[in-house]
Amino acid sequence: MIRVGIIGVGNIASMLIQSIEYYRSTGKTSGLIHHRIGKYGIADINVVYALDVSKHKVGKDLSEAIFAPPNLVPKLVDLRRTNVIVRMGKILDGVADHMLDDFPLSNDPEPSADELVRELSDVGLDALINLLPVGSSKATRFYAEVAARAGVSFINCIPEFIASDESFKALYESNKATLLGDDIKGQLGATIVHRALARLIAMRGGEIVESYQLNVGGNTDFKNMLEQSRLHSKKISKTMAVASTQPEPHDAFNKIFAGPNGYIPFLGNTKVSYIYIKASAFMGLPVTLDVKLVVDDKAMASAVLVDVIRLTKVLHDSEVYGAPAWASGPYFKHPPQPVNSDEEALEDLYRHLDELKVEIEPRYALS
Ligand SMILES: NC(=O)c1ccc[n+]([C@@H]2O[C@H](COP(=O)([O-])OP(=O)(O)OC[C@H]3O[C@@H](n4cnc5c(N)ncnc54)[C@H](O)[C@@H]3O)[C@@H](O)[C@H]2O)c1
Repeated sequence: MIRVGIIGVGNIASMLIQSIEYYRSTGKTSGLIHHRIGKYGIADINVVYALDVSKHKVGKDLSEAIFAPPNLVPKLVDLRRTNVIVRMGKILDGVADHMLDDFPLSNDPEPSADELVRELSDVGLDALINLLPVGSSKATRFYAEVAARAGVSFINCIPEFIASDESFKALYESNKATLLGDDIKGQLGATIVHRALARLIAMRGGEIVESYQLNVGGNTDFKNMLEQSRLHSKKISKTMAVASTQPEPHDAFNKIFAGPNGYIPFLGNTKVSYIYIKASAFMGLPVTLDVKLVVDDKAMASAVLVDVIRLTKVLHDSEVYGAPAWASGPYFKHPPQPVNSDEEALEDLYRHLDELKVEIEPRYALS
């Protein structure tokens, strides 16, 4: 059993919790990236702790809170009462001014860092998952420090640079906890598709002249990102994820635009991405490519998260502490070290797991 806690009971939390129940009750494995990591299947994941600051969610049982407004993921499975009551978190910069109607603040008192450290230790968590809104710089650092002090591993799903920060890496190493991040890369989301196309162009001798990845969606994630001042690290994370597939990532960075581009309420959790690449190929002649990708944004994130949770647990079981770059490489947009190719990152993961004698199934046949 893997005991995880969630910071931010939003749409990903809802999809994650429902997906665990879906796979547990049906026994299916289709759609999962890896069926087993070490001895763990998806059904071994248990969400036993949750923090939020919205009065719609704090104080409610998780099985109710995941359907509270403004969450949009529909009811996909029957969930029993979990007896996990959503606790009040520390607000800091988690809620932007323009999001106060969506995330109206609870009147419950905010916990101190010491209280949270005690709480996390008492609950006995294997990992705490950061699902705060983009731009939560102070809140992310606050929770990341609290988890480290409690010796709890941390999974940073958002574009704040934590696992890719040497001081956090050292902090987790010295507290014997594991840190994975930053900014989760969807199963078949815009980043991995854009990366694959950009990598293909480089592999065939072409050079990117210009490229954009425009993303629109209709949930609070996209609404929150209307505030440009919250997007600084998001743009770096998304752009670097594509640029790092190129032979000269820093030159490529200036030729690529990747970011959120609008909130269209009727789209809900459907994300639409338009990827355009203009490349120069043989004799400098141009090649252009346009792709439209339509996905359920929260399913894409949850599919990766259920791998990452199990990976974090096996790493901790194997006494791998700090922020191992090879573990974050396949799963995050801004891992501790840039990843040139997703295939190589997966091979690297398998190689390291072999060294630790951790089995993973299925293994994708790579070159
Ligand atoms: N494909 C994806 O969905 C994807 C990919 C990469 C990264 N992310 C990131 O993951 C994060 C979570 O996404 P989501 O769609 O679940 O978000 P969401 O908007 O549905 O939920 C955010 C939740 O955080 C809560 N919150 C705000 N401040 C808080 C605080 N200080 N403490 C505790 N809780 C707080 C809100 O009340 C809300 O319940 C976002 O930053 C998103 O950009 C998502």
